[in-house]
Amino acid sequence: MPATREGVRGAVITGWGSALPEKVLTNHDLEKMFDTDHDWIVDRSGIHQRHVGGLTSALSIESGRQALEMSGVDLADIDALVLATTTPDRAVPATASTVQHALGLRCGAFDLNAACSGWVYGLINAHGLIAMGAEKVLLIGTDTLSNITDWTDRGTAILFADGSAASVIEAVDGPGQMLGWDLDSDGSAEKYLYAELGGNLLMEGREVFRRAVRIMVDSATKSMKHAGVSIDDIALVVPHQANIRIISASMDRLGLSMDKAAIVLDRTGNTSSASIPLALNDALDNGRISDGDLVLFVGFGAGMSAASAIVRWTTTAQEHTK
Ligand code: COA
Repeated sequence: MPATREGVRGAVITGWGSALPEKVLTNHDLEKMFDTDHDWIVDRSGIHQRHVGGLTSALSIESGRQALEMSGVDLADIDALVLATTTPDRAVPATASTVQHALGLRCGAFDLNAACSGWVYGLINAHGLIAMGAEKVLLIGTDTLSNITDWTDRGTAILFADGSAASVIEAVDGPGQMLGWDLDSDGSAEKYLYAELGGNLLMEGREVFRRAVRIMVDSATKSMKHAGVSIDDIALVVPHQANIRIISASMDRLGLSMDKAAIVLDRTGNTSSASIPLALNDALDNGRISDGDLVLFVGFGAGMSAASAIVRWTTTAQEHTK
């Protein structure tokens, strides 16, 4: 994957929002559903609880509305809505159309399925639209994996959950926040994690684990090379929230301590397309990202897909927008 060309028009994130279903399912709740226990789940995955319930459209509308309000953009100025999801409400039309109408937008709207790498794929696509002249893009990452989880299968039901997070991305004069990026997919590994149309997720957990660490580190390394930065320059990693041991092994191989990782996994489980932006929004809301910090997003998922991007954060994003 080539590096960003010199001179393309960049963008910055100017608003964000998060939405989780009200219903919380703890590990102790799962103990009543199949043979498992809280300590095993925490030890093997880092997850304590997850939120389940609701539709991809409804969660997207909630997070999208928050992000639009925070950015203060005029709804008529949004040029595109990109909805990263692997669990659309229906086969046709794109759930983005439902969300667009509910939010009062009139713009291009489409779903993007890159599994758990979806939001980073969407971020890079949004930058591509802006490089081609779009001014403002609403990017939402939402998944309702509870709808495609076999709730009797302890190998998968402990991990997957529902959630949504949105970002408003606005054009700037000049290069913007993104310094480097990478997209990848290895279709030969699709058999390790998939769901047939109308079916539930099937997974070979150990194989996914083994590959996940490798492809996260590989993609992050490519993004750093494209950005011309080294690991010592990274202030915060916002990784896909699949398993704390995957995050920990990846941080270790990258040469970073865990205090440089944004984590919401313990509270949310694996929310696929929502996982990275939920962790980003949590870090932002808790003051973990300062002006000028280099932030590394890195995700992996079914496909097996991988994606990463490095942005130089600016807390005064509005001042940079038109
Ligand atoms: N509760 C209790 N025991 C469980 C269990 C559960 N929920 N699930 C599996 N076990 C048991 C297994 O049956 C096995 O028992 P055995 O040794 O008697 O056969 C034992 O625990 C170990 O199973 P294993 O599958 O090797 O565990 P693991 O350490 O690999 O952890 C996962 C399982 C699923 C947590 C782990 O493989 C994983 O997270 N993989 C990555 C999955 C992922 O991230 N997918 C999403 C990608 S986007």
